[in-house]
Amino acid sequence: KAMEIVKEFEESCRTPISKLKQVADAMTVEMHAGLASEGGSKLKMLITYVDSLPTGNEKGLFYALDLGGTNFRVLRVLLGGKDGGILKQQFKEVSIPPNKMTGSSAALFDYIAAELAKFVAQEEDDFKPTSGRPRELGFTFSFPVMQTSIASGTLLRWTKGFSIDETVSDNGSPFVFMLIMHSVDLFIGRVGQDVVAELTKALERQGLEMRVSALVNDTVGTLAGGKYANNDVVVSVILGTGSNAAYVERAQAIPKWHGLLPKSGEMVINMEWGNFRSSHLPLTEYDQALDAESLNPGEQIYEKVISGMYLGEIFRRVLCRMAEEAFFGDIVPPKLKEPFILGTPVMSAMHHDTSPDLKVAANNLKDILEISNTSLKMRKVIVQLCDIVATRGARLSAAGLLGILKKMGRDTIKEGEKQKTVIAMDGGLYEHYEEYRNSLENCLKELLGEEVCKTIKIEHSNDGSGIGAALLAASHSQYLEDES
Ligand code: BG6
Ligand code: GLC
Repeated sequence: KAMEIVKEFEESCRTPISKLKQVADAMTVEMHAGLASEGGSKLKMLITYVDSLPTGNEKGLFYALDLGGTNFRVLRVLLGGKDGGILKQQFKEVSIPPNKMTGSSAALFDYIAAELAKFVAQEEDDFKPTSGRPRELGFTFSFPVMQTSIASGTLLRWTKGFSIDETVSDNGSPFVFMLIMHSVDLFIGRVGQDVVAELTKALERQGLEMRVSALVNDTVGTLAGGKYANNDVVVSVILGTGSNAAYVERAQAIPKWHGLLPKSGEMVINMEWGNFRSSHLPLTEYDQALDAESLNPGEQIYEKVISGMYLGEIFRRVLCRMAEEAFFGDIVPPKLKEPFILGTPVMSAMHHDTSPDLKVAANNLKDILEISNTSLKMRKVIVQLCDIVATRGARLSAAGLLGILKKMGRDTIKEGEKQKTVIAMDGGLYEHYEEYRNSLENCLKELLGEEVCKTIKIEHSNDGSGIGAALLAASHSQYLEDES
């Protein structure tokens, strides 16, 4: 019976090329709809106010704060201006205590501001600002934000494991993010607190004088950092705890943009692709149950099948169902019933186990789930399960990428054109889950064909989003005139 469960699961996770092409087309259609009007699609296609990416002329000392992945990072970078590149950089990575992810927003912001203050206090002499002007900061905030300018915007909702109590804040002032809303239409036009204003207040509470010059999503930071390193970068994707993509759109192709046409004629769009959904997505009963019991039911459906926060949990759910059919003997191992006990890194370790007796799988099953005495045959089935979950996720993310390339007209080679398309990619899932990464890349090749694929390159932009945010803070510095 347990084996039948695996078989059925495998069948419902199938991602033949024909299906992936339908997913890609659906992505392209939703992109158009999301650009046409606010609330026109599940894809928010957020306007970022980034209408030019770094040029290499950025100069001076800038800070960045990167919140929203597994860890948060603070960073300072000294930019050398034309041909100077990055002269010096330092960063610190801090994990976010779980109670700060589900407490009040003021507590979360106070925590990150305090860490930033500590980091600033350790500034060495050759990193000190030259003039008396305040330090400037690029803030990478990896959640959906409705921006009102390059340095302001309101949070639409928390995603990933964050679930902040929006009605109460530690200092008594209501900080109303619209967490409980379930439809994007309801958000539009509501007045939430400005993310930058909140951070600035928290910085002030730490006695830190710092100006937030750019508020960016991690995809946008990665795009900016990627472009600085390679001029052909036009798309960025994060495959980590969550997943999302950003790309450079023609401003004229954004009907919902009523502002002035930027000089560059371009605008970076934060797609928030995690919220994509389509009837073509191969969803199973396990995905449905995961979604229903999640912190954000009905939201981020695509993210819940492709990203790092959820893969291990899908795997656990199937394994648990198998255990109910006596896969591990008479009882369901109690630990297996705990949601999120199997993280994607553990699943990845089991999946990559090359030892003949699948020792890694055996050890993890014993250490984490307290399941011992598994046979090699059982462990093989478990590894197969990892493969099914990871392969579906990877191939669906390749389909999403194809959707973007189609929208940009870069899925074919035009006569006489030698256009190169580079995709800047970051996130723990892409970086550490080799089978996932390989499966994604192979699938993209299958989808595009050998010839087109030669013009498309995925580049790992390691921690590029922090640098990208600092670069955007530099190009949007409030003190640019002082420099000239
Ligand atoms: C980091 C980026 O490298 O990847 C972050 O600097 C991003 O901005 C993160 O949010 C996503 O990865 P993960 O795996 O930490 O969610
Ligand atoms: C989630 C967030 C999105 C972010 C992504 C990757 O999907 O909503 O803003 O870019 O995770 O971190």
